[in-house]
Formats: sequence, structure tokens, C-alpha cells
Amino acid sequence: MRQIHVLNGPNLNLLGKREPGIYGTKTLEDIEASLQAIAQREHIQLVFRQTNFEGGLVTHIHEAGEVMADVILNAGAYTHTSVAVRDAIKAAKVRAIEVHLSNVHAREEFRHHSYIAPVAIGVIAGFGANSYVLALRALLDMPPAA
Ligand code: DQA
Repeated sequence: MRQIHVLNGPNLNLLGKREPGIYGTKTLEDIEASLQAIAQREHIQLVFRQTNFEGGLVTHIHEAGEVMADVILNAGAYTHTSVAVRDAIKAAKVRAIEVHLSNVHAREEFRHHSYIAPVAIGVIAGFGANSYVLALRALLDMPPAA
């Protein structure tokens, strides 16, 4: 069965209570539930992981690569800082879609740069929790990597 890994980085465990004016009131569990509903219809398997550690995110990307899973990645602030996360995507040869709840380009200057975007299939930002759903739909429109 096709696997897609939904990987979330730092502070995203606090969704729902974290700056709701920017990130909305849905929790990570709410986002998981809406993606699972699609996955069941589409007969694919989703794996959800969240970590507040840069190395943990690197390991999660490697693990997706080992099973040839595509990745929906919200690396949070590591998007703007982490060469290690960028290198992990290349090293593990995963197809990743970069997602953000907020429109990072309409926010502070330091959020405009992404280390991940150049090695991602594409970027979806600014649609709140729906950014994840749009990313899943985009992957489902592509033939599986494995
Ligand atoms: C975020 C945007 C990042 O700039 C920020 O550091 C986050 C969340 C988003 O989903 O909008 O943690 O990735």
C-alpha cells in the first residue's frame, strides 16, 4: 500500500493554542483526522510524526526514504535555518512537498527564505490546516514513487 509520511517540526505540537490568529485553532490531531479521512477513501497509508528536534526531523526524513514514501513536510522554523533538513531530503531521495499553515511570504523577512523549497517538489503555504489537504491531493495526483 502506498505510504505518505506527514512530518512536522518544532512547535507544531502546540497547534490550536499557538498564536491562533496566525496558525488557526485546529490542532495537529484535527489535521491528522482530516487527512486520514482522505487516506481511507484513497486506500493509502499515512504516517504522522512530529518532533521539536532538528536531528529528529532528519531521522524521520531518512525513515520515509527507506520505505520510498512521499513526504508532506512542515519543518516549522527549521525551514528557514536548516541545511541538515535540506540535505536529508536529497540524501534520502524523498519527494517532499513543503507546507506551511501561514503565508510565510506575507510575514517577517526571515521567513521568506526556505532551505527546503529548492529540493521540494513544490510549496503550499497560507491555507491554514487546508495546506496539508492540498499537499495530499497534489501527491495523490502523482504516481507513487514506489
Ligand atoms: C510555519 C511557518 C514558520 O515560519 C514557523 O516557524 C512555523 C510554522 C507555518 O506552518 O506557517 O513554525 O511553518
